[in-house]
Amino acid sequence: MLVGLIGIGIGLIISVAVFAVWEFIEYLFNRFSIKEYQFASGGFLTSLIIILIILIYKYMLWNNCLVRIKGENMNDLYKRLIESVVENDNKSAKKLVKCILESETAQCNKYFVQRMQNKLNTPTMNLLEIPTNLQGMFALEDVSISFNEKRFAVTEEENNIVKQIMDIYNTNEQLKEYGIQYLNSLLLHGASGCGKTMLGRYIAYKVGLPFGYLNFTKLISSYLGTTGKNISEVFKYVQEHKCVLMLDEIDAIGLSRGTKNDVGELNRVCINLMQEFDTFDSGNILIGATNRVNDLDEALTRRFSRKFEVKYPTFEIRKMIAKNYLDTIPNAIYTENSLSQFANKTDKESCAAITNRLVNGIVKCLVDKKDIDLNNI
Ligand SMILES: Nc1ncnc2c1ncn2[C@@H]1O[C@H](COP(=O)(O)OP(=O)(O)O)[C@@H](O)[C@H]1O
Ligand SMILES: [Mg+2]
Repeated sequence: MLVGLIGIGIGLIISVAVFAVWEFIEYLFNRFSIKEYQFASGGFLTSLIIILIILIYKYMLWNNCLVRIKGENMNDLYKRLIESVVENDNKSAKKLVKCILESETAQCNKYFVQRMQNKLNTPTMNLLEIPTNLQGMFALEDVSISFNEKRFAVTEEENNIVKQIMDIYNTNEQLKEYGIQYLNSLLLHGASGCGKTMLGRYIAYKVGLPFGYLNFTKLISSYLGTTGKNISEVFKYVQEHKCVLMLDEIDAIGLSRGTKNDVGELNRVCINLMQEFDTFDSGNILIGATNRVNDLDEALTRRFSRKFEVKYPTFEIRKMIAKNYLDTIPNAIYTENSLSQFANKTDKESCAAITNRLVNGIVKCLVDKKDIDLNNI
């Protein structure tokens, strides 16, 4: 009913408008000479065409058509993203989204970009599919998306060790050609919270492989009795799916045999583990981590081609952790002076404690609606 009335109304308005225009044209015909009329109609038509062009241009912009016609904006990244989505390649789609977000500079999208980046950087968001029988004890993370290099403070020594691992990794083909069985491995030791797991993830990120994570304490407590079998399953999977395999808290099974902690079952598991090491593909990278390196079985420790102690962060590294972290927070304020003060304040603290301090400080500043200033943290 209402729509009908509106239709009649619009019809009436259009009729009156047409009539008025008609009358106006007739008046113009009578008023001006033919020549003057030609000039006027020429002007009128030109402005009409200009208005039409502007309207079409606006309409196309609105529909994003122009973007496509001009071939801009829909650059290679967008095209590749569309391809990945169409081909169901979730992993590369996420990588492309990360690149697109990083290249976004428009101020109005700032908060959206940050929210999405934070989500992408959450490790649990980037766990890769693994077979059901391994779920719960082994995790595979796509660190190319989740590892936030900007927040990672790396020492010269750490960079060196990463380089050595990468060099071996890159000569793997030759090693195979010459029939050399070499375990590209690293035993990380040091106090809890100093960055052993982070360094493992960083290596995977640098090498460009997923990060496979196996925590022995959890494995043993939840699967006691089948630990040996489970470890074999994980190694079998890793042989077929390249990754950096991290065996965290390896002391949970690798304690010296014959000590008071000696448990028959764990001894057998430790022997199984060493056998797995001996046949481990040199194209993979193996990282062990422990807080108790001195208690580890000598035979197990010996099998790692390198050992590296992840130490408590130095003054410079403590400054770098704070600086790197704050650089990723919009409008955060720090000075050389406040960085040094922060580093002094956090003497003998682990990386984990320092990061916690930063996070809590930032949260408090946000809640109290204060500037995120390192002096307030
Ligand atoms: N080099 C580093 N730069 C910045 N933050 C770090 C670094 N190493 C560790 N952290 C912080 O400390 C936390 C704990 O590190 P983690 O690797 O789990 O320690 P560990 O495995 O030695 O117990 C990390 O989640 C991270 O926030
Ligand atoms: Mg750890």
